[in-house]
Amino acid sequence: MTIERYITIDGEIVHFGAGQTILQAALAAGVFIPHLCFHPDFGPHASCKLCTVTVDGRNGSACATPAMPGQEVHSDTPELNARRRVLLQMLFVEGNHFCPGCAKSGNCKLQALGYELEMFNAHYAHFYPNRGLDASHPDILLDRNRCIMCELCVRASRDVDGKSVFALAGRGRASHLVINSPSGKLGETEFALSDKAAHVCPVGAIMPKRVGYSVPIGERQFDHDSLRQKVKKHTEWRSSGEERDGATKELVNGSVAVNSVKEG
Ligand code: SF4
Ligand code: FES
Repeated sequence: MTIERYITIDGEIVHFGAGQTILQAALAAGVFIPHLCFHPDFGPHASCKLCTVTVDGRNGSACATPAMPGQEVHSDTPELNARRRVLLQMLFVEGNHFCPGCAKSGNCKLQALGYELEMFNAHYAHFYPNRGLDASHPDILLDRNRCIMCELCVRASRDVDGKSVFALAGRGRASHLVINSPSGKLGETEFALSDKAAHVCPVGAIMPKRVGYSVPIGERQFDHDSLRQKVKKHTEWRSSGEERDGATKELVNGSVAVNSVKEG
């Protein structure tokens, strides 16, 4: 007997491959589910909870829930999007995210999700943390105040680069990114611009130096297409068999990998 490998997401039939999670199946099919701590090159982290969907009546993280035949998934609902907006608002107030003056503006996944989910204000009082900048590295600036603790750099440095440059320390409001060096400074590590960890940060916490405005504001990834449109377009490109440049090839992996483009 052949088992039909498909689920429905908001009523749309989505086929999935062996071992895929709901989020992987959705993104591969061009169905957008908001997410922040997921990256196609790493296993699920399930920490940001932006990808929470309702699966057969129960809520769960789409990035960590295996797709199973016949699942009825709901994602783009007023209730779930309202919860996602609250999560985004909390992320915005617990860090310093001054989008208009940030070199990552237009390439930032947190900002793009804010637009996507119609987050019109921060709602909560800002913490205005003072976690400290680290400009000690010749090629990379670290601004901990923009860090959303997704641990993508931690995973990339440990699992891909084999360097374990980053770790999270502290609890609750005191959580912050630490550097594995005697002085705690990035410049004292083996971290390199060519490292995977230098290109996975979804926000402007890890930024290459000297290229901040080489791509003008207005011409960046999310200045024209929203995250949702990018996921959908990618699927259309794939089904038409077109070749694309390096930036969009990243999308083949099933996610909008924000840092795949040259920093602008
Ligand atoms: S620096 Fe960036 S990639 Fe690393 S934990 Fe913070 S937000 Fe995530
Ligand atoms: S993307 Fe699933 S919890 Fe963050």
